[in-house]
Amino acid sequence: MTAGGKQENKGKEGASARAVHIHPLMVCAIPIYTTLEHSMRTLLFAALALLPSTLGAQLRVASPDGRNVVMVDTHEGKLYYLVQRDGRPLLTPSMLGFEFRGAPPLRDGLRIVDSSRNTVDETWTQPWGEVSHIRDHHNELKVSVAETGPPDRKFTVAFRAFNDGVAFRYEFPAQANLGDFEITDELTEFAMADNARAWWIASNRPRLDRSEQLFSSGPVSTLDSVQTPLTMEFRSGKTFVVIHEANLVDYAKMNIRGPRMDNRTLHADLAPMADGVKVRGHAPFVTPWRTIQVADKVTELSPSVIGLNLNPPSVIPNTDWIKPMKFVGIWWGMHIGTMTWSSGPKHGATTANAKRYIDFAAANGFGGVLVEGWNVGWDGDWIQNRNAFSFTQPYPDYDLVELARYAHSKGVKLIVHNETSGGIENYERQMDSAFALYQSLGLDAIKSGYVTDTITGGHSHWSQRMVQHYRHVIEKAAQYHIMLDVHEPIHDTGERRTYPNWMSREGARGQEYNAWGGEGGNPPEHETILFFTRLLDGPMDFTPGIFDILRTHTGPARTNEESRVRTTVAKQLALYVVIYSPLQMAADLPENYENQPAFQFIKDVALDWDTSRVIAGKIGDYVIVARREKNSPNWFLGAITDEEARTFDVPLTFLDPGKSYVADIYADGPGANWLTNPTPVAITHKTVTRVSHLRVALAPGGGQAIRIRPAGKRP
Ligand code: NOJ
Repeated sequence: MTAGGKQENKGKEGASARAVHIHPLMVCAIPIYTTLEHSMRTLLFAALALLPSTLGAQLRVASPDGRNVVMVDTHEGKLYYLVQRDGRPLLTPSMLGFEFRGAPPLRDGLRIVDSSRNTVDETWTQPWGEVSHIRDHHNELKVSVAETGPPDRKFTVAFRAFNDGVAFRYEFPAQANLGDFEITDELTEFAMADNARAWWIASNRPRLDRSEQLFSSGPVSTLDSVQTPLTMEFRSGKTFVVIHEANLVDYAKMNIRGPRMDNRTLHADLAPMADGVKVRGHAPFVTPWRTIQVADKVTELSPSVIGLNLNPPSVIPNTDWIKPMKFVGIWWGMHIGTMTWSSGPKHGATTANAKRYIDFAAANGFGGVLVEGWNVGWDGDWIQNRNAFSFTQPYPDYDLVELARYAHSKGVKLIVHNETSGGIENYERQMDSAFALYQSLGLDAIKSGYVTDTITGGHSHWSQRMVQHYRHVIEKAAQYHIMLDVHEPIHDTGERRTYPNWMSREGARGQEYNAWGGEGGNPPEHETILFFTRLLDGPMDFTPGIFDILRTHTGPARTNEESRVRTTVAKQLALYVVIYSPLQMAADLPENYENQPAFQFIKDVALDWDTSRVIAGKIGDYVIVARREKNSPNWFLGAITDEEARTFDVPLTFLDPGKSYVADIYADGPGANWLTNPTPVAITHKTVTRVSHLRVALAPGGGQAIRIRPAGKRP
């Protein structure tokens, strides 16, 4: 954590909330609110607590382990749910409903007319991921609700209680009075029972700042307009809650509108289309799932699978062509200004330069070479070029066909770059011909981009229109056997289960900010927050692996006042284990890896995992992750810290008993410090077993990367 903390506002509720007992059945504390609305909620909570004796078990559903419980009821015609864990409130009564354009809200005069239950316990296998097998074990309660008078609409809320959280979605059956509809507001609330500390990025920023922001933290009561996953730590330090969504298919992205100091009630806040409408639909219709992940310890939040369990299984029958891959690319040079995307003397995407990268990739066992700026459309202010981009026509100095052939002859594939600058109609028009061309050349991965102020038509970048666009692209990509890595995406809602060709995305401040970003780059704590926030929703193309931290190979050493990488080299290595992505870049210029023994770790590190475990962690301070390579006895361990030096004792109890291993250790070298001396890496090899402990010492802003392989085997 940054010294002094960022926006560590304790909030007015911190001092004023207190607990009273409303009813003996209610083993939980109730916050006292001063407003009328909240007094009513308090009474409702008391009524709901009586549910076991009045309504039996009908309108509550518990997780298989019995710890997480959802209760549902109406109060004065409004529909509410609440969530408890171990009998204590996580969410106090929270309203459900909608507002529409041209129709009355679906909010008042509601009554519960039916309910049904189901239980699922099945385990499914991921083609790639942080873990190979995922258990979906949940109890479901479907609550059917109807208006008591005209227009007599009806809907169902499906609740699922898992051991790692709860989720719900709205389902509208086909009906006479709800044909076409336009949602102007989803009234879903998340009334937090505790003035928990939240780690957040704002949801009301334009263009690049949209999700590429530094995180702040503060009490729930102080939140204004924030994004999900929204990670919160209760003041007890014994409960962590993450609000997010799953299976976003044909709807608007859900942000969160905060209580603005009034109380602790968070509201769903849907991204609008140009005319202000949030969602256009036609019954039958289902919304995305609203997920409330819960854990006792922060280390239990990752890997997060609740969202994956709420997405439909893969629709791609044969996934053999979908393969995790390490890649290098003509990329960092543009960001540090030694190359350009546009044509001209510094054009990066030349045939000769691309061949150099292909040779480097082949010599070092990388599967792909990303080439940005290869296609016509980059000249001038490319951010405004939304209709100028061709996705098939290369610049004259880039021989696409020859390069595809050359790469293939070396066992490497070009990764095609498709920057749209938000010109989604221009992209959609060309998609078939472009994807067919790539497929004919044997190219099966695209990095796409959506750098823009507003997308075509003036819609929000996160609107239903954009959700539909991303879905269209992933379907087309699947049709042409193409894997996707999307930059400037909408947050990940588990789509990769259904479309495992959606490999990675950006959606947070990545390495590029260390080249050009504001505030001089990402602070040392950044990745320790990302791990427990953004990375809970899915893989991130962070692009680790910068070795020339101070850029001395391309000019005078960067000072701390300039944009620069704010880590040690050992931490750059550790990020390959900590930040999960099945497409993982070695982001630096190839020449910066020459004669660097530490480069061996990037060559060795695995991309696909049987299992992942968080050994230790504190949001904003440090993370240690261990992952076992898929179908292999090898383990990898990544440890990172913020600006504080830290030492950990890590027991290797995760190793198989009775076996001997060698740990290849890449540690911060003597005197390493992100600020003053970021480059020393000490490489050592140590024989270890299951009973060994490793002393993991991290320099300020440092890290440690370890491969643990069976003794006697050196690949
Ligand atoms: C922003 C992306 O994050 C970056 O990786 C890419 O190089 C530029 N856009 C250009 O598309």
